[in-house]
This record gives sequence, C-alpha cells and structure tokens, in this order.
Amino acid sequence: MSPQQGEPSPLAGKRIVLGVTGGIAAYKAIEISRRLVDAGAHVVPIMTEAAQHFVGTTTLSALASEPVQTELWHNPTTPIPHTEVGQGADLIIVAPATAKAIAAYRMGYSHDLLQNTLIATRAPVIVCPAMHTEMWEHPSVVDNIAVLRERGVHIVDPESGRLAGGDVGAGRLASPESVVAAAERVLGSRDLAGTTVIVSAGGTREPIDSVRVIANRSSGKQGYAVAAEAASRGALVTLVSTVTLPVPSGVEIVAVETAAEMQEAIESRSASTDVIVMAAAVADFRPVSVADHKLKKRDGAPQIVLESTPDILAGLGAAKPAGQVLVGFAAETNDLVANAQSKLERKHLDLIVANDVGAPSVGFAHDTNAVTLLRPDAEPVEIDLAAKRDVARAVINTIVEIRAAAEIETQTGKI
Ligand code: PMT
Repeated sequence: MSPQQGEPSPLAGKRIVLGVTGGIAAYKAIEISRRLVDAGAHVVPIMTEAAQHFVGTTTLSALASEPVQTELWHNPTTPIPHTEVGQGADLIIVAPATAKAIAAYRMGYSHDLLQNTLIATRAPVIVCPAMHTEMWEHPSVVDNIAVLRERGVHIVDPESGRLAGGDVGAGRLASPESVVAAAERVLGSRDLAGTTVIVSAGGTREPIDSVRVIANRSSGKQGYAVAAEAASRGALVTLVSTVTLPVPSGVEIVAVETAAEMQEAIESRSASTDVIVMAAAVADFRPVSVADHKLKKRDGAPQIVLESTPDILAGLGAAKPAGQVLVGFAAETNDLVANAQSKLERKHLDLIVANDVGAPSVGFAHDTNAVTLLRPDAEPVEIDLAAKRDVARAVINTIVEIRAAAEIETQTGKI
C-alpha cells in the first residue's frame, strides 16, 4: 500500500541503485526511475552491456539523479566502483532482471559493475525478474529464485501478459507501480534497526557412535526465514544453525550440531541480546554414552540408554534479562493450543508459535507453514498456510508489537 497523502515517502532522501539488465522490459526501468525520483529518492543507475542493446544511456541518465554507470574499469564517477556504489546504497533494485543476471547473482559471479555492486552491498535488494514463460518456469531459474528468496532478497514476481514476440504468459516485468511499492515496503520497515536477535534453526543431531546420530526432520527453513526477515528489517542477527542453507544477507552464522553446542552458543550470547527466537527442533533425548568407534553389526543391536538434553528455552526463560523478548516454537500433533499454551507458561515466554506438524504442508521440511501465535494475556492469532517467509513476517510483526508495548509500559512507569 502506498503511504497516505501527506506522509513522507519512505523513499525520500534514500540512495537507490537501479540496475538494468538486458531484456526487452529495460525501457520500463526509465519509468521506474522517474517514479523513484518523484518520491524523493536519489537514483544511481547502472546498466549492463546487454541492457544498452535495448535502451540508450542518455534517456535514463536524464531521468535518474546522476549519469548512468556502465563500467567496472575506467569509470569516470569513481576509481573503485565495484565496492563504492553498493556500500553507499540504501536499496538496490534490479529491474528488469534477466535469467542470466539472476544466475550470476545467485553464484556471486561478479563479472560486471552491477554484479560487483550486488555482492558488495549490505543494503536490501529487490530483484524484478522479466523473461519468457518457459525461462521463468525452467528449474534452474526456479531454483535460483528460491535461493535468493532464502537469502532475504526481495523478489517482485513477474506478471502474466504480453511478452516479446507476441507471446502471452507469465514473465512480464511487474508494473513500475508495483516495483516502487515494493521499494516503499522494504525501506518503510526498518523497525528492528539496531536490535540484536538470535535465531536457532534446524534439528540437533545427537551422536550414538562416531558415525551415527539421533536426528529429526527439521530442515531449518523456518528458522532461516525468521532470520532473513529480521535482518531485512535492520536487526543484527546471529543464526545458530545445524544445517547449511544459503545464509541470508547480513546474518552472522554459528554452526552447531548437538543440543549442548546449541545451548552454549545461545547462552554465551543471550545476556546482550534483545530478542531470541528458538525455531530449532532441539532433541529431547541423547545417548548417555557415545562410542568413539563405529558400533559393529556383528555385535548385535546395541542397547542405547538415553538421557534428557538441557531444555535451552526453559533455561533462557528462567534467566531472562529485563526487556528481552523470548520466543519459542511448538511442534505439536494434537491439542495444539493447549500444549503450546502450557509451554508458553512453563518456559516464561513472550510468544509461542504453534504449528500442527501433522497437518498437510505444515512444519518440518515444507516450504509452507500454518501457525497459531500465542501470547500471555492476548487472544490467539491464526496464520493460515503461507510461505515460511510470510509466517516469519507475522512472527516478527508480533515481536515488534511486544517490544513497542513494553516500551510504552516503561515510559508510563508501569514497570
Ligand atoms: O526447520 P523446518 O523444516 O522449517 O521446520 C520448522 C519446525 C517445524 C522445526 C519449526 O516450525 C518448529 O516447530 N520448531 C520447534 C520444534 C520443537 O522442538 O518444538 P518443541 O515443542 O519440542 O519445543 C518447544 C520449544 O522448546 C522450541 O522452541 C524448542 O526449540 C525449544 N526446546 C525444546 C527442547 C529442548 N531440549 N530445548 C529447547 O530449547
């Protein structure tokens, strides 16, 4: 939604790099640039060599805030364009983004000024793909887009409509209005700027012997989505993870394997952390003793004696510093709300995100999730089946609400 009349645009005063790559929709970048400038942004245009086959630099230079840059070498604007342009940006928009540009960005293949700028930036990035339907639906493009999304890149999906050569289908560049609205959304929500956040993700793996582990089905996708969403809103995020998914941009990763390692990684950082989100599936039990060699089949099935692991979240709840927001997830297969409510109270949480992991497309390993958000003294909020990133957004929105309410209480002297 665009800001209401009278409100300053979140784009005002922002430095936005507009990267234009070589597709027929390159001409629409000129209208996008004009709208960004009208909203008060300073637009720094970059065109790839291929883009210049579709539109000339003169028009875009005239309608942006400064001349188009095209060169990695002998750039008249700066001697070190490969880092300077990206470091100075508040936002980068690539519109249109061709299949080749998307693949290069996914790989970090920094062969030209735009790709260098993309990997040298900490700013949020919006990619607006445009290509023929067959290309947009090709598994390589689908895969590249999924990886970029997981890293926290904002994708403005193409629309369906008339394409080059008279074809009709999905792949047309989103309208300039949609691209600018996405920019407003991204720059308008830096509501976690400077907030320190720890997110845990993935399932812990508890060793039985030197080669075998007790594990669970957590893929880490939900935790990574929470980390990406928090980072895109300005948080300083540490992701304590047992899995190796693409790391969202700007997020610090701490690799762990067992519940004990996860506990150490989180507890050693928790005192100086504003928000902790435990999305990981921590094993409840581990073998009492771990064989230092591979147990042999010929010796018969081993008797594995288990003991409880530390309940990391309960420990954090018991020692929670004032003002910290503590969030758990609850993976349930029955009595979702009652079980989650009991964990909320028992572990002294500010929010618990309950998912019915027995329901279709919900929870472990899926790209989607459906959750109920439970807080002390508030009505449960249900989030219907949606992409894990959308669920993450709802979780982060609730955390922002909790922090804002606590701030008001502090100011009015209630605590
Ligand atoms: O990783 P994905 O494939 O994307 O799947 C997402 C998910 C299903 C793993 C996620 O949405 C989820 O539900 N995570 C929590 C899983 C879980 O361990 O739930 P629980 O109900 O057993 O535990 C409750 C809370 O206590 C969790 O926040 C858990 O991290 C924490 N816990 C549990 C046990 C333990 N020893 N220490 C803990 O801190």
